[in-house]
Amino acid sequence: VPLQPYNSFGIVARALTLIRVASEADLAALRTDAQWAGAPRFVLGGGSNIVLTGDVKPLVLKVEIKGRRLVEETERAWIVEAGAGENWHETVQWTVEQGFPGLENLALIPGTVGGAPVQNIGAYGIELQDRFDSLDAIDLDTGSAFTLDAAQCAFGYRDSVFKHTASGPNGFGLAGRALITRVRFRLPKPWKAVVGYFDLERRMEESGNFTPTSRDIFDWICAIRRAKLPDWRVLGNAGSFFKNPTVSPEQCADIIARDPKIVHYPMPDGSIKLAAGWLIDACGWKGKTVGNAGVYEKQALVLVNRGGRDNPVTGGEVMTLAKAIQTSVYERFGIRLEPEPVVV
Ligand code: EPU
Repeated sequence: VPLQPYNSFGIVARALTLIRVASEADLAALRTDAQWAGAPRFVLGGGSNIVLTGDVKPLVLKVEIKGRRLVEETERAWIVEAGAGENWHETVQWTVEQGFPGLENLALIPGTVGGAPVQNIGAYGIELQDRFDSLDAIDLDTGSAFTLDAAQCAFGYRDSVFKHTASGPNGFGLAGRALITRVRFRLPKPWKAVVGYFDLERRMEESGNFTPTSRDIFDWICAIRRAKLPDWRVLGNAGSFFKNPTVSPEQCADIIARDPKIVHYPMPDGSIKLAAGWLIDACGWKGKTVGNAGVYEKQALVLVNRGGRDNPVTGGEVMTLAKAIQTSVYERFGIRLEPEPVVV
């Protein structure tokens, strides 16, 4: 089964077997199938945060569970639930239109609802964990359903329990083991606009509208993202390719002494977060191309497919470019950039 339509880089690769999961019942039926037992599995959502470096031999489970509803409205919050296979952006738009505000800063992020908790998506001052209530999932080993709250998801910056395996350094994790079926959001009341992010503040000032609604912010976010980030349908990509690294204040002071213009933000825990895009840009990578892999002209943190659908970049080319970038950032700043997408 060709996977090119199912990954936002537009990389050509195949799945030996692709199974669409539209309901819990589909999964239950699958478990009775002989090819299931003991077979490795790979859970695919929107394919917007993966780099395919070859054909995928594990069974690919493409999650297509739909449905959106208000579960509960209390004095303090709206609880909204969506199926893991729902498109993320359409779900955000739906909540805003239904009058359940709170997800607007996360507009236009590619991918599905089920992918959102996996990497704790975040943008413009909000992370999924700030609006998360709980999720339902199925243990692919035992077939049993379970529910996790935010603490059990172990959210971190672009991180969660779903990105780790039990055999990894943490000793716990659900990667490859859990299939998320539904996600519930807790949207606090009264709604308050989150407009602290620089780009948003500037939009607000330009518009002269200092009491924006959730819909206004939704529209501003869409405009900001469209101006700065490539549309994967036009130019394949997986969003930010590296995480923003954190350093100690001493290490940051060191770098500032050499590069006074470095973009940095103090974190609540005392560490300093650096803008990876700035570091890559400072190393001269912006707009560069190696093979069919490129560094986006307007945001150096985004690697793009320069070959389009017909002559697409390979996962190998993407990783070669990523390694070259990592090397030059390390040589100049002594900082190791960590890739953000999942390399398959
Ligand atoms: N910068 C440069 N040159 C560049 C790119 C950025 O100098 O080529 C500077 C910018 O001027 C800015 C700073 O770096 O001062 C930060 O850039 P930006 O506001 O674009 O945000 P970012 O840190 O690069 C992060 C997330 C994005 C998210 C935005 C907005 C990560 C890895 N990325 O990007 O998330 O949309 O903030 O909140 O944390 C994603 O994860 O895929 C993603 C797109």
